[in-house]
Parts: sequence; structure tokens; C-alpha cells
Amino acid sequence: MESDHSSALKIRRVRSVEELRDVFEVLGRLFTPRIERDDRRIDDLVRRYPIDRPLMLLVESSDRIIGGALGFSSTLRIIGLDPKFRGLGLGRRLLQTFEVAAMRHGVRELSLGAEEAKGFYLRLGYKGKSSMHKQFPLPGRVAELRLRKLEQLAGDLESGGAVPVEDGGRVPSLV
Ligand SMILES: CC(C)(COP(=O)(O)OP(=O)(O)OC[C@H]1O[C@@H](n2cnc3c(N)ncnc32)[C@H](O)[C@@H]1OP(=O)(O)O)[C@@H](O)C(=O)NCCC(=O)NCCS
Repeated sequence: MESDHSSALKIRRVRSVEELRDVFEVLGRLFTPRIERDDRRIDDLVRRYPIDRPLMLLVESSDRIIGGALGFSSTLRIIGLDPKFRGLGLGRRLLQTFEVAAMRHGVRELSLGAEEAKGFYLRLGYKGKSSMHKQFPLPGRVAELRLRKLEQLAGDLESGGAVPVEDGGRVPSLV
């Protein structure tokens, strides 16, 4: 990761449908074959944006979109990072932040399709084969206290939670 970029890393909510399309386009470029901006897979996200906006996160570095995690209902639809920012723990931090947002949004079990990066999801505690899932703690006093602590660490996702970067460029795990 370039050090001049790392100090300005932020994870925040997508702020508009237009920005949602921009994030989807950035993520689509990471796949082979490339997923186009108007791919039908964006339609569900756009339709659910008013309800599930908390599940639509982007990563920015110096105001440039370098990744994101987009979901709706109880599904993570797509996650990805610019190759320059991979392998340093940022993907883990992004997925953990997405999970915190999902728990607050009332999701009890998160599902995803893991055709790619299955090892990444296994490292993050997901179970299953091509369709993977992870259960969150049942609501209660202890779960609520833990969630509040995680939300503090994740920062204000509306304005953009600053992502800490250690010497050497590693991003610490949220949990
Ligand atoms: C998947 C992705 C988001 C992971 O981000 P990242 O920042 O490189 O991942 P991290 O550095 O946080 O890795 C976290 C852990 O997962 C492991 N990991 C990461 N990607 C992996 C992969 N593709 N396969 C197996 N393990 C992987 C890391 O080795 C690390 O393990 P550790 O616990 O021993 O440290 C990123 O590689 C990416 O954007 N890939 C292209 C898009 C994609 O495939 N998205 C998923 C399908 S929608």
C-alpha cells in the first residue's frame, strides 16, 4: 500500500444511487470477465438502496474509491479492493465493518456466494461451500455492549470511519 494513501483511508456508507453505481463499476473492474456498470446485478442493489443503505459501504483513499462491500437484505453481494491495497488486512477490516453494520441493521445471519476468495471468507469465520454464511450473536445485553464497542472502533460510517494503518502498512483487525 502506498504510504501517502494509507493515512487517508476511510470506510463509509455510499451516499447516493449514483455513487452506488460508481462503486459497483469500480468493483466490477476487479473481476474477469469484468462486470459492467449496467449489469443486472446492480438492479437489486439500486432497488434496495433506500432500505439497505447501511449495507452499502465503500473504501476511499484520498477521496478516490478503491473498494467496497455492497449488500442487501442479509446478503453480501460483492466485495473487493484495488489490487494495490490487498494483502494488508484491509479486506478483513472491510468485511468486519460490513458485519458490524449488518448486525446493527438487524441481520442475524449473513450469506454470500463464494465462487472466488473462498479462503478469505473461511479466515473470517464463514461456513459452507459455494454458498457461505455466518451467524451473528443473538440480541441481548452482552451482544449490544459488544456491538457498541465494535461500532466505536469502526468509527462514524456516515462521515467515514478512518482506517488505522500500522507501520509497514498493515491494517489492524477490528475484532
Ligand atoms: C477478497 C479481497 C477483498 C481480500 O482483501 P485483502 O485485503 O487482500 O485480504 P486481507 O489482507 O484482509 O486478508 C485476510 C485474510 O484472508 C486471507 N486471504 C485473502 N484473500 C484470500 C484469497 N483469495 N484466498 C485465500 N485466503 C485469502 C489472507 O491471507 C488473510 O489471512 P490471515 O488471517 O492469515 O492474515 C481481495 O483480495 C479482493 O478484492 N479480491 C478480488 C475481488 C474478489 O475476489 N472478491 C470476492 C468475491 S465477491
